[in-house]
Amino acid sequence: MNATQPDATYRVIIDTDPGQDDAFALLLALASPRIHILGVTTVSGNVPARQTADNARRIVELAGHGHIAVFAGAERPMLREARPVVEIHGETGIDGWDWPLAQRPPEPRHAIEWLVETLLREPAGSVSLIALAPQTNLALALRLEPAITSRIARIVFMGGGYFEGGNMTPAAEYNILVDPEAAAIVLASGIDITAVPIDCTHTAPAPVDWSQELDALGTEVGRACAGMMRFFEIHGNKKFGTKSRPLHDAIAVGALLWPELFEGRRCPVDVERSGHLTTGMTVVDWLRQTGLPDNCLWLRRCLDPAELYRRMLAELARLPPVA
Ligand code: BDR
Ligand code: CA
Repeated sequence: MNATQPDATYRVIIDTDPGQDDAFALLLALASPRIHILGVTTVSGNVPARQTADNARRIVELAGHGHIAVFAGAERPMLREARPVVEIHGETGIDGWDWPLAQRPPEPRHAIEWLVETLLREPAGSVSLIALAPQTNLALALRLEPAITSRIARIVFMGGGYFEGGNMTPAAEYNILVDPEAAAIVLASGIDITAVPIDCTHTAPAPVDWSQELDALGTEVGRACAGMMRFFEIHGNKKFGTKSRPLHDAIAVGALLWPELFEGRRCPVDVERSGHLTTGMTVVDWLRQTGLPDNCLWLRRCLDPAELYRRMLAELARLPPVA
C-alpha cells in the first residue's frame, strides 16, 4: 500500500526552508546510509530564501557533509506574499544553537534551474524528492520543464492537514497555506506522492525531554539538536498546550525510511485556493466520494512514535563527534 519499501535505498533531492524541524530532517537524511543526497534546494518559507540557503549550508557542514551543494530558490510564493514565522523558528530560523558560519560560498545557480538540469540527467523514475517547505520550487520546476516528471520516482512532502485542521489557520497547515497554488500543481502532477500532514505528525510528538537524549549523544550535532529542540518547543507547547512537539519535517524523512511505522490511505487530495476562511486547506476525499483518481498516499498516523524517535536518535548518533 505504501509508496516506499522497508530497507530500500534512495537517491534524493531535499527541498527545504530550515526551520529547526527541517534541520532535523536534513541531519537524519545526511546520517542515513540508505539516503544518497544529490543536492539541497531551499525556498522562501520559515525565513527568507537567502537565509534558508545559508541555514541549510550550516547544517550540512556541521554534519560533516559540506560537499553537498545547496541551491537557493524562489524568493516568494507563486502568487502571494511570503509569510516568515520568526515567532516559531526565531530570527535565524534555526535558533537554539550558536551555529558556526558556513565555509562554502552560496552556489551561483538558481535552485529551479539546477533541479531541472539535474533531473533531466537522471534515469527515469530514479530520484525521490523530499519536500519540507512551501512547494514553490517544485511547482515552478514542473512548469518550466514538465519532462522532469518522468525522472521523479516519488515525492514525499510534509504539509497539509484534514482530520487535524490547520496549524496556521483553522483550516490550513503552514507549507500549503504559504503557496497553495504550488501545492495544487504538485498534487496534480501525476507523480507518486506521499503526504505527511499534521494529521500524522501530531500523532508523533518527540519524547518529553528528548533534548536530554540528544545532548547525551556527546556530539556537536547532538548538542545543536538539543538546543534546537528546546527552542522549537517553547512556542509550540504554549500554542498547542502540549509537553513536547512533533518534528514535522524529520517525520517525513522517517516516513520514507520506515514506511512500516505509518498508516495511511491512497485517495484524491486537492487544495482550496479561493476560500474566504479555508484558503490553503487540503481537502482529502478519504471516503472517495468524488470519483476523482487517487493522487496521493495520505498518512494519517504514526503507529509507533517511540520507535520512530529511537531510530532517529540512532541515526543522528552516526554524525561526526566533536573534533
Ligand atoms: C511545517 O511548517 C514549517 O514551519 C515547518 O518547518 C514544517 O515544514 C509544519 O507545519
Ligand atoms: Ca519546513
